[in-house]
Amino acid sequence: MKRKIIKAYDNYAKYYYSKRLRKRFVNTYIELPAMLSLLKNVKNKKILDLGCGPGILSKILAKRGAKVTAIDLSPEMVAIAKKYAKVNVQLADAEKLPFKSETFDIVCSSLLIEHLENIRMFFKKINKILKPSGIFIISTAHPFRNIEKFNNYFLSKWQTGIWDKRYKIPIKPHTFEEIINSLVSCNFAIQKILEPKPIPKAAKENPEEYEKYKNKPYFLIIESEKVMPIIKTSVLRMRINTN
Ligand SMILES: C[S@@+](CC[C@H](N)C(=O)[O-])C[C@H]1O[C@@H](n2cnc3c(N)ncnc32)[C@H](O)[C@@H]1O
Repeated sequence: MKRKIIKAYDNYAKYYYSKRLRKRFVNTYIELPAMLSLLKNVKNKKILDLGCGPGILSKILAKRGAKVTAIDLSPEMVAIAKKYAKVNVQLADAEKLPFKSETFDIVCSSLLIEHLENIRMFFKKINKILKPSGIFIISTAHPFRNIEKFNNYFLSKWQTGIWDKRYKIPIKPHTFEEIINSLVSCNFAIQKILEPKPIPKAAKENPEEYEKYKNKPYFLIIESEKVMPIIKTSVLRMRINTN
């Protein structure tokens, strides 16, 4: 599957990048502003941008004073991000992260988890590389869209999405329940959930698309914080009794 994903994104990279620069509606007016609303105070923070694509978010975070490392699986995306974002961009798999424990203050993954087989394993690894109380921010296609796209909310097998009318991209659907429960079981405390609408200026700049997207939950964004594992009171009692 990884090979298929690399091929798909290598093929899509130049088009996606040029569309992003020309204000691809759902990213420019819905997803990116919502992500950035959670990433205001990033000066001097060590941030990992996973599945960075062409590096649009990385570049903005670097401009805001963050020390950004960005990772992508697609060599074409990495080549574009290196030139565009001018941050430390590495070719790597987000599921096999090459970092030491407690390295980052913030990890963000924009529109990545829909390409990962096992998000629980992924979240566990993220927890490890975050510093104590580190922040993890995820954006993903809203799981409810699977009802419209595939006529089945509970699909758990890989699907093929058709993006920008012709690019075939492998997608692994995850339900809302799976995402939230996986985060909680990996010692993340949910801080905020956003189901962003298009920002108001979209109505002026692109009224047609604004009408199309204003009534749907298109993305789901979750901010969570790394917390200490909860030790159940029964286990604590046992420990106290045996000491
Ligand atoms: C929809 S694009 C989003 C790109 C960027 N985050 C953005 O918002 O513009 C998803 C990106 O995730 C990358 N990707 C997919 N699977 C990955 C993996 N296992 N590790 C790292 N990157 C991955 C793809 O190559 C692609 O660039």
